[in-house]
Amino acid sequence: MLSKVLITSGPTIEPIDPVRFLSNRSSGKTGYFLALEAKARQIPTIVFVSGPSGFLPDGVDLIRVETTQEMRRAVRQHARSADVIVMAAAVSDYRSVRYYPEKIKKDGERMDLELIKNPDILRELGEAKGPRQVLVGFAAETEDIFVHAQEKLHRKNLDLLVLNEISTENPAFGTDQNQVYLVTATGIRKLERMEKARIAALVWDEIATIAQAKGLS
Ligand code: CTP
Repeated sequence: MLSKVLITSGPTIEPIDPVRFLSNRSSGKTGYFLALEAKARQIPTIVFVSGPSGFLPDGVDLIRVETTQEMRRAVRQHARSADVIVMAAAVSDYRSVRYYPEKIKKDGERMDLELIKNPDILRELGEAKGPRQVLVGFAAETEDIFVHAQEKLHRKNLDLLVLNEISTENPAFGTDQNQVYLVTATGIRKLERMEKARIAALVWDEIATIAQAKGLS
């Protein structure tokens, strides 16, 4: 029986000055539908850590964050006690080295902004993963997608990777439908293009199978 799941969702944003930030196109829909499906499966505790997004489910333990470092702190508080962790958030890979407390003036024709890499939350979770814990990551790839996906599954010590092939036919971000692949140690399964709500149900079916194999349910 799964008693606690931790789902991250939405983008993270990295402030530059009081009016500007770095972010990405994530709407938070995928994480939202994953949380609804977890509720439908009556998982007692659903911790939902969300970056700025309008898609916030009811009836979950909601933790709102903005930056990657805030998301990391929230995730760390709940990770150890979670049976399943799903990192659906589109985490900002980099942040500005400096926060400019005053609005940056457009003085020159060019400007340089120095960025520094954010911690990889999923990789840290993979390193600390317990033997009876299920860890799920997402990937958005544009080339050699299966090679990168399998490498990522292994490198981040994941049980399941939900792979998006980003292309003009499948933008993935912000849409109601998506086409994904479910990548596990045993193989790659292509899901047809379908509603994100239906994808969430199939992802949870896969999680349930993996959890059962680990003696969790
Ligand atoms: N992720 C994370 N922390 C980061 C970056 C990504 O936890 N700083 C998680 C996301 O939530 C998602 C997965 O890692 O589940 C996405 O990985 P991606 O950014 O595609 O992997 P990288 O190996 O960082 O990507 P790339 O190969 O493009 O560098």
